Amino acid sequence: MAKVKVANKSEVKEDQGKLVNVNGKELALFNIKGEFFAIENICPHRGGPLSEGFLEGNNVNCPWHGWQFDVKTGQNIMPGIGKLNTYKVLVEGEEVFIGS
Ligand code: FES
Repeated sequence: MAKVKVANKSEVKEDQGKLVNVNGKELALFNIKGEFFAIENICPHRGGPLSEGFLEGNNVNCPWHGWQFDVKTGQNIMPGIGKLNTYKVLVEGEEVFIGS
């Protein structure tokens, strides 16, 4: 994936998420104690917006029914549910990019 600017650092407060769009795909960008991570935005349960979820440590809680995903790995914390795609995040100065 080509590098795409998705936000300025100041737009994503610590321990919060932001919906970003990369080439027409919705991703959820998170700031975990100053480090940025990105996963798919759409919850595989029933399509809840993970970028609006509540963060507990590295885990985001889906705002609709509470499924939890580790934003660093994409892994659902319940066994057997599986994993979301994760995306490489680059921070250059104040700018946040997705891609390589
Ligand atoms: S839509 Fe995410 S837990 Fe149901």
